[in-house]
Amino acid sequence: MESRERIILALDVADYTKALDIIQKFKEHIEIFKVGAELFTSVGPRIIEKLNSMDKKVFLDLKYHDIPSTVSKSVKVATEMGVYMLDVHTLGGLEMMKEAVRGAVAISLQKNIDRPKILGVTMLTSIDEKCLINELGFGQALKSQVRHLAGLALRAGLDGVVASPQDIETIRSHCGKEFLIITPGIRPSWTSIDDQKRALTPQEALSKGADYLVIGRAILSQPDPLHAFELIVEEMV
Ligand code: C5P
Repeated sequence: MESRERIILALDVADYTKALDIIQKFKEHIEIFKVGAELFTSVGPRIIEKLNSMDKKVFLDLKYHDIPSTVSKSVKVATEMGVYMLDVHTLGGLEMMKEAVRGAVAISLQKNIDRPKILGVTMLTSIDEKCLINELGFGQALKSQVRHLAGLALRAGLDGVVASPQDIETIRSHCGKEFLIITPGIRPSWTSIDDQKRALTPQEALSKGADYLVIGRAILSQPDPLHAFELIVEEMV
């Protein structure tokens, strides 16, 4: 896979027209666009229909975290919409993750369509060790928590995880080389870190073994987003 194909562009806007502008600008360069909570809450499924009609792949990043049957039904709807990837929260537990997989398999067989890749969010990249232990009251260090949750995702039959680039090596050694690792929290040296507390540069994330990099502000908040994208691709080689 070429470096640029490993970039998933986060469509973090709340407006259909703005999202379309970005898609038009990047359609020759980006294969997978991420539709997250902000855009989906604002515009709904039509953004997925639009991307599908342009032969672009969709990562639906709604981080499902609910009781197993609700997650299963939501995943069924997303599968029917033809998304390429979607994510659930590993903290929803083993049964919830298994139900997500069952839901996707059932619809893909019934409709004869591809099953989306299902990823588990381990720990948000905005959560650091201090927050995990002092604020959220977890009893173990961040790395062992992430390792445990990634293992749970593997046991549940998920295709991979969404995790901080700083956790790639831990996850890879625990879950094997076939397990997908998608990393947000990517910051080239020339951008600000914002709310991402466990960020790495694109080059560092790739060399540690990330399969895909989710990038939003490091591209879209720059004065010339296309130039920022090209700079990042150059850095990745
Ligand atoms: O702008 P930035 O590159 O930090 O955006 C990262 C994107 O990845 C956001 O859309 C955010 O919701 C998403 N994400 C994340 N951390 C996770 C999962 C998804 O930052 N663990």
